[in-house]
Amino acid sequence: MASANLEIRVQADTQELTRVAAQEVVDCANKAIRANGVFTLALAGGSTPRSLYTLLASHPFRDQVAWDKVKFFWGDERHVPPDHQDSNYKMAHEAMLSHLPIPPDHIYRMLGEMSSPQEAADWYESVLREQFQSPPPEIPHFNLVLLGMGPDGHTASLFPGTPAVHETSRLVSAPWVEKFQTHRITLTPSILNQAEQVVFLVSGGDKAETLREVLEGPYEPDRFPSQVIRPTQGKLTWLVDQAAARELRRRP
Ligand code: 6PG
Repeated sequence: MASANLEIRVQADTQELTRVAAQEVVDCANKAIRANGVFTLALAGGSTPRSLYTLLASHPFRDQVAWDKVKFFWGDERHVPPDHQDSNYKMAHEAMLSHLPIPPDHIYRMLGEMSSPQEAADWYESVLREQFQSPPPEIPHFNLVLLGMGPDGHTASLFPGTPAVHETSRLVSAPWVEKFQTHRITLTPSILNQAEQVVFLVSGGDKAETLREVLEGPYEPDRFPSQVIRPTQGKLTWLVDQAAARELRRRP
């Protein structure tokens, strides 16, 4: 995965990874707010970002961003209500959103509670187009997208062998995920790759072999969907800890 806009930064441990990630979010936010008066951020789900969100809502980081100028979106959501233990919105709300002075109308969650995940995807796509004032065929540009990577190489809810990995027309998709026997709602590569910056957060030795495949192996997005994230113009930053980086042959 060679590219001029690619940066791989290895941190000693999860705590250092989280601190560096928090600084990256703050810097990106302040740059966007200075330039446009608003910062559009797509949040990642899963467990790794929880500590990042908690840190952003704590001193000193909480004092370094004009949170009323931040608009929050999600990269993916589970097909569950917002109060469900698996909800990515619930996790971010508890760790960060409920602790910061954010206007409620700046929080654009995916409606995982809708009975039809496809209708939820359609609705979210309309929200994105409205909020970014991007009618088709334009594609909204997030200032920053946060992503994680699973041990199977998935990111957002782009899982190995699923059509969403190759979705090029829709901005939001509702794939069936066989391994979990459920639907997910996810941003597609079309919009993810239009972001001004994408930051992956990867921690833990259980991801080391996959990370080497993703970063140093052949391009096989059906096996390793994280490889499909290659921002067209934007910057791609991999923030990884030493445990996850231990199999990398080309030490950054
Ligand atoms: C989700 C996430 C997912 C996550 C990876 C890594 O909804 O689960 O969007 O893509 O980022 O599974 O999760 P961890 O950071 O918990 O390992």
